Amino acid sequence: MTGLSLNVCEQHALDGRLGRGRQLAAQLVTALGTIYGAHDLVPVASAQIAGVSYRNLGRAGLEFLSEWAQGGAAVTVPSTLNPAGMDLENWREHGIHEDFARAQQVVIRAYEAFGVLPTCTCTPYLIGNRPRLGDHVAWSESSAVAFANSVLGARTNREGGPAALAAAILGKTARYGLHLDEERRPALVVDVDCRLETAADWGALGYLVGRMAGDRVPLLRLHRPPPGLNEASDLLVSPYLEHLKALGAAAGSAGAVGLYHIEGVTPEARRGGVRCIEGAEQATIEDLRPAYEALNAGDDTVDLVSVGCPHACLAELVDLVRLLRGRQVRTAFWVTSSRDVLDRARAEGLAQVLEAAGIRLMADTCLVVAPMQSFGYRTLATNSAKMAVYAPGHCGLVTRFGSLEQCVSAALFGRWQADPGRDG
Ligand code: F3S
Repeated sequence: MTGLSLNVCEQHALDGRLGRGRQLAAQLVTALGTIYGAHDLVPVASAQIAGVSYRNLGRAGLEFLSEWAQGGAAVTVPSTLNPAGMDLENWREHGIHEDFARAQQVVIRAYEAFGVLPTCTCTPYLIGNRPRLGDHVAWSESSAVAFANSVLGARTNREGGPAALAAAILGKTARYGLHLDEERRPALVVDVDCRLETAADWGALGYLVGRMAGDRVPLLRLHRPPPGLNEASDLLVSPYLEHLKALGAAAGSAGAVGLYHIEGVTPEARRGGVRCIEGAEQATIEDLRPAYEALNAGDDTVDLVSVGCPHACLAELVDLVRLLRGRQVRTAFWVTSSRDVLDRARAEGLAQVLEAAGIRLMADTCLVVAPMQSFGYRTLATNSAKMAVYAPGHCGLVTRFGSLEQCVSAALFGRWQADPGRDG
């Protein structure tokens, strides 16, 4: 019935000899392996599990988690959680309804019962869940998947939340898709001949690449690489960290890109470079304006500004402090990040400066998974192309997309000022 071969331990798990919880996990992992033609399972170094917000999970999701937990399942590899529907500590101050908060806390406790760390961030690689080059992992959350595959050189498919949890329990996933060398070869080569100055520009590029690539692996050839990008030995601590996470997040949301290569920059495209598949398509991007035009709508009045999609790193908070120059914002302004990064920002005095300017720092959550409809905002300004893709449908917000500088200006004056070279 299947070309999937299991060793004795894996077969025992599937037969239920290691408990009901493991059996359910093995059933899911092997079912996916069978559907996608895997020959065997591969051990994973870590898992990143999405499907945390009660807004998306609902009662049915909670019942699913309870059934697995009652079967005695526990994760066997380091496992982290994606954002929840609220800041787990400060939800009251943020106006989250008591009923939603209670349900969200039950979800978090259910994951904790499996041994999953309640990190609640989409940037697990910034807080210690950092796979090494060549590691196989089981990650869900499209932006984290793109980052793990492309920037860290780890190997994961775009797992759904239950599949990532199943792999975490079993310690293995089915070896297909982006776990295989062959599937990591580019099928699309994009010559990029335009200025890439801000994280928003990288997000705009990701949006265009995602629309072209769909679920194919693109290879980007940057004709005007920003200074120092090619020389960065550790992309995770390079000044381009926020740009690369913006690129992958946008490509993963506008298309279904789980891995991109940048010639001479990302780990698998350094030195000898990657070998494209035969007949790989060629394309050129010379202008980012189509992305800015597609992601900007509505009038110029802004009532909410959001930064931190994917969750902000420390350097983005430093930039924000610099651009504010001690001024007070007049719109609502939410910065979303991991609790760990916000703790570091507080230790360095950055958090206090941002709060004094009227900015709300939110850990554990983001707009797309929070119950946004209950807040009554109308127009959002963001520097994240991914957020601009999702906010209209998921949050019911009209969206303005541009640089961090434009977002700060919108927050100071309540109006969006178009950049004539980009969105105007
Ligand atoms: Fe993260 Fe939410 Fe954006 S999960 S990538 S901040 S949509």
